[in-house]
Amino acid sequence: MMRVGLVGWRGMVGSVLMQRMREERDFDVIEPVFFTTSQVGGKGPDIGKDVPALKDARNLDELRAMDAIISTQGGDYTSEIFGKLRAAGWKGYWIDAASTLRMEAGSVIILDPVNQHVIQDALAKGGRDFIGGNCTVSLMLMALGGLFREDLVDWISAMTYQAASGAGAQNMRELLSQMGEAHRVAKTLLDDPASAILDIDREVAGTLRDNSFPTANFGVPLAGSLIPWIDKDLGNGQSKEEWKARAETNKILGRSDDAIAIDGLCVRIGAMRCHSQALTVKLKKDVPMDEIEAIVASHNDWVKVVPNQRQASMTDLTPTAVTGTLTVPVGRMRKLYMGGEYLSAFTVGDQLLWGAAEPLRRMLRILVE
Ligand code: HSE
Repeated sequence: MMRVGLVGWRGMVGSVLMQRMREERDFDVIEPVFFTTSQVGGKGPDIGKDVPALKDARNLDELRAMDAIISTQGGDYTSEIFGKLRAAGWKGYWIDAASTLRMEAGSVIILDPVNQHVIQDALAKGGRDFIGGNCTVSLMLMALGGLFREDLVDWISAMTYQAASGAGAQNMRELLSQMGEAHRVAKTLLDDPASAILDIDREVAGTLRDNSFPTANFGVPLAGSLIPWIDKDLGNGQSKEEWKARAETNKILGRSDDAIAIDGLCVRIGAMRCHSQALTVKLKKDVPMDEIEAIVASHNDWVKVVPNQRQASMTDLTPTAVTGTLTVPVGRMRKLYMGGEYLSAFTVGDQLLWGAAEPLRRMLRILVE
């Protein structure tokens, strides 16, 4: 059996990965070895079979004994360890979820329902570095993969509504603290049916702007507000999150030399773990709506076309409906006034599942099978 080292399995993405690996019985087909950066020698997690005591995630000799390593420990760990491991001659498969190695020439960005052919090509050529993509990009491709498969996309503008989880577990907690604080200051007025809504609003605005409002992680209020910038400032007006859309999509599709233009604005909103995106797609030709819906729906087992109707959109096309599931609904599809080649779409996806953990465990399955 393949010996697989797992690093970072206790963190947020790691916990989702562990849950999915248990559900899909992945541990039955590998020999898992759990690593830790803090509790060497401790007991491994309960996965239904015996596992060795926790090994040191910085011990290169222990890591080198693995056939594959899956890391959800984060980019700093990848930066610290990966180069040393390869320099020490390790030839195993490295699978991680960090952005550190994504754009390296030798890396494949893994999203097998979309780029199985790219993954298989790389394996045939001896590729060993398989890296999960940016969550927003992966979720957009899971939703619109059919349009790319049929080569119908001229360009896409993606305007995002990204959840707190994309910024980290502490940020999810902070969002809830902020919501609680906003409610707390308004509670007395809220409980009084005769109070004036503008008085309530004044109280809430006051606390959002107060220096004591909990913003240690986001830097500014998210609850009752939004943050129109995600990730680094590239200095050209674009955020790094926005830059990833074009760069990673084309790399995932294996067409970086013939890149499709994808750009837009990335915005953080107060959802917990589902990223949403409003997409404007410029098609290469005027394809009828029923054909577009059939192409989109047939692409993979998880995309679900939601009829472009009020009730269906309100119930099925929201973070609340999708959270904790692998379903990727796409709806609000219609031709825009600009012409028959201009398609709107709105999609939602759990950024911890397809956006982070799921492609990693599926890559392991590809290696094992
Ligand atoms: N960069 C994403 C976000 C998360 O901040 O929402 C992971 O890809």
